[in-house]
Amino acid sequence: MDIDTALVVGATGNVGAEVVRALVELGVPAVRALSRRGAPVDGATAVTGDLGDRASVADAWRGVDAVFLPAGHPDPPGLLADMRAAGVRRVVLLSTGAVVGGDLDNAVTRFNVVSEAAVRDAELAWTVLRPSGFMSNALGWAPLTGVVREPFADVGVAVIDPADIGAVAARALTDPGLAGRSLRLTGPEVSLPADRLAVLADLLGRDLRLEPEPDDAARARMSGTMPERYVDAFFRFFRGGEYDDGHVTSVVPDLLGRPARTFREWAEVHLDAFRAETVRP
Ligand SMILES: NC(=O)c1ccc[n+]([C@@H]2O[C@H](COP(=O)([O-])OP(=O)(O)OC[C@H]3O[C@@H](n4cnc5c(N)ncnc54)[C@H](OP(=O)(O)O)[C@@H]3O)[C@@H](O)[C@H]2O)c1
Repeated sequence: MDIDTALVVGATGNVGAEVVRALVELGVPAVRALSRRGAPVDGATAVTGDLGDRASVADAWRGVDAVFLPAGHPDPPGLLADMRAAGVRRVVLLSTGAVVGGDLDNAVTRFNVVSEAAVRDAELAWTVLRPSGFMSNALGWAPLTGVVREPFADVGVAVIDPADIGAVAARALTDPGLAGRSLRLTGPEVSLPADRLAVLADLLGRDLRLEPEPDDAARARMSGTMPERYVDAFFRFFRGGEYDDGHVTSVVPDLLGRPARTFREWAEVHLDAFRAETVRP
């Protein structure tokens, strides 16, 4: 290991918390956990800052050797210039598998491609992570008590455990051998949402059923929670055929020397999140 201090942006999130955990396990001497709320994260020093406000994070990069950075914040070149000026040597970018063969007219693809390009141009050592859909997206079903309505229910995805992304990220943050690589990370198998719900039903001992959400209903619901260009992006991915997230790569097992974690393994760790406070018999 050739670093003393790593900073994880988004350290309280599904992926960021796993990056912190993996860095601590690897024995990185100092880990900093940055988020807007600056909430505490075990094993790390909490730092408050908003990547949407470049000035609010300018001091955060000082004394940091390596940064874990999710894609999509405004002005990636400016943020990366500040990191470099502050002495940061290495950055690991969380992008998405959707950039592979993706179309720049697609808003989600675009913000990831823009961040990737900025990282490659920043004169820092870089590694780009391009994961498949996250197993933690199932947390949107919690609490689980009966019927789940799910959009794109017929689309198989090789979902990945954020813990595997965290383990690969920690490796890339501490190992110069992964510099200059764009890694397409996936879980170990392709599954449908109903397959994943069946695993949760089995572990919880509950009768759960998945009801596919019709496309027009999904579009109307999603439009209430995100800008139209992102709704369009997801429809282009999963109805327009712009994103094939239904294949498995061997990158996670090749790098970690163990199989990628299954949805069942992820669910066993996170099962409490799906239990309702009070469940009617
Ligand atoms: N879900 C998927 O299937 C998928 C697939 C590929 C890529 N991705 C990408 O992966 C990213 C991370 O996903 P996740 O599930 O780990 O997200 P998450 O659980 O929502 O966590 C987001 C983290 O970022 C922090 N944050 C948000 N805005 C920030 C800002 N402006 N400045 C500083 N910190 C900020 C949040 O804390 P505060 O709220 O306190 O700031 C939190 O720690 C997503 O943004 C997405 O683009 C997702």
